[in-house]
Amino acid sequence: MTQFPSNLPQIPLSFSAAVLVLVILLGPLPARTDARKAHVINFRSPNLYPEGIAWDPSAQHFLVGSLTDRKIVSVSDAGVAETLLSDTDLPENVTILGIAVDSLNNRLLAAVHAMEPLPHFNALAAYDLRTRRRLFLSPLHGAENDTVRQIANDVAVDFKGNAYVTNSAGNLIWKVNDKGEASIFSRSPAFSAHDVDRDSPFAFCGLNGVAYVSKGYLLVVQSNTGKMFKVSEGDGAARLVLLNKDLPLADGIAVRGDGAVLVVSPNKLWLLKSHDSWGEGVIYDEIALDEERFPTSVTVGGDGRAYVLYGHVLEGIMGNSDREVFGIEEVRSEKENKEESVWIFVLVGLGLAYFLFWRFQMRKLIANMDKKTN
Ligand SMILES: *[C@@H]1O[C@H](CO)[C@@H](O)[C@H](O)[C@H]1NC(C)=O
Ligand SMILES: *[C@@H]1O[C@H](CO)[C@@H](O)[C@H](O)[C@H]1NC(C)=O
Repeated sequence: MTQFPSNLPQIPLSFSAAVLVLVILLGPLPARTDARKAHVINFRSPNLYPEGIAWDPSAQHFLVGSLTDRKIVSVSDAGVAETLLSDTDLPENVTILGIAVDSLNNRLLAAVHAMEPLPHFNALAAYDLRTRRRLFLSPLHGAENDTVRQIANDVAVDFKGNAYVTNSAGNLIWKVNDKGEASIFSRSPAFSAHDVDRDSPFAFCGLNGVAYVSKGYLLVVQSNTGKMFKVSEGDGAARLVLLNKDLPLADGIAVRGDGAVLVVSPNKLWLLKSHDSWGEGVIYDEIALDEERFPTSVTVGGDGRAYVLYGHVLEGIMGNSDREVFGIEEVRSEKENKEESVWIFVLVGLGLAYFLFWRFQMRKLIANMDKKTN
């Protein structure tokens, strides 16, 4: 009890500390609720018409494919585009569709596909990101005799360097190991269990975007049914993910660090989450995109931000335009921003409660002290 007097001079100090805590808590409020402007990147690369995008976290830039140039281009945050690599060993005019960065092995994986009227060709190419040399080019063949043109479309990579490539025409998934050995990994009956509207312009396009989830499975979306599947990394067994609605024309997919899944279609971006490792999932936000610029892919860039690629691919396929500028745009969820500000209010409330409690204690303390000194 003899300590009391020595505590006395600290009262004003703790008081100002509490006020400081409050100011810190209140301070960020206006900044948080005013949505920061979305990051827009316009980059110049004549006739590129890229379909696929990936973020390279070590180089801190985006990588995009090309419609007929057989090259992969890097794009900086500020929109500076440079040819990362150009692979003229690939057949003339083939398209680089999905791309993925294998950060653990410092490699870049690219799905290569020849569109009409080129001779059939599908492959997975792997490049060393440091030397930019090709490590392998693995041809990919359909399950049956390739009478129908197969489509190597998107690629994801696991932590062992295995790549998984979707075949949109054959509705199957290829696996290519780190040595470049390819096999058919999953041809689940689940992939053909749902009706397809044969009149839809994208009826030919089945399995499309693929993402690897760290818990040993893949998530794959199917454009012509709007379904999502969970595919086991072990044996390729697939199950429909139960969603509150379909994802019509789903194209690219990406998984954010917090587990949220982003799916892009030509007109919107969906945000999904799941509480049971994707037995079922819920679409908790959807954001309209600019259909005219034909978004095809989504990736997670720096600070967990979602970016879609506006590559004008359809226009490029029509072949009657000379476009020079393409876009990469951050997409922000207003819903998530609101939830964030709710948390700020909760924190402020807690801070205030703490402050009032502290003041109450101080009053008691001072009252006690008065008693004692009297
Ligand atoms: C590739 O495209 C160019 C330009 O359109 C064309 O001249 C050439 O014949 C094409 N090559 C093949 C193999 O189709
Ligand atoms: C594939 O080709 C082989 C030999 O040409 C033939 O025996 C087989 O029936 C074909 N399979 C299909 C599914 O068409």
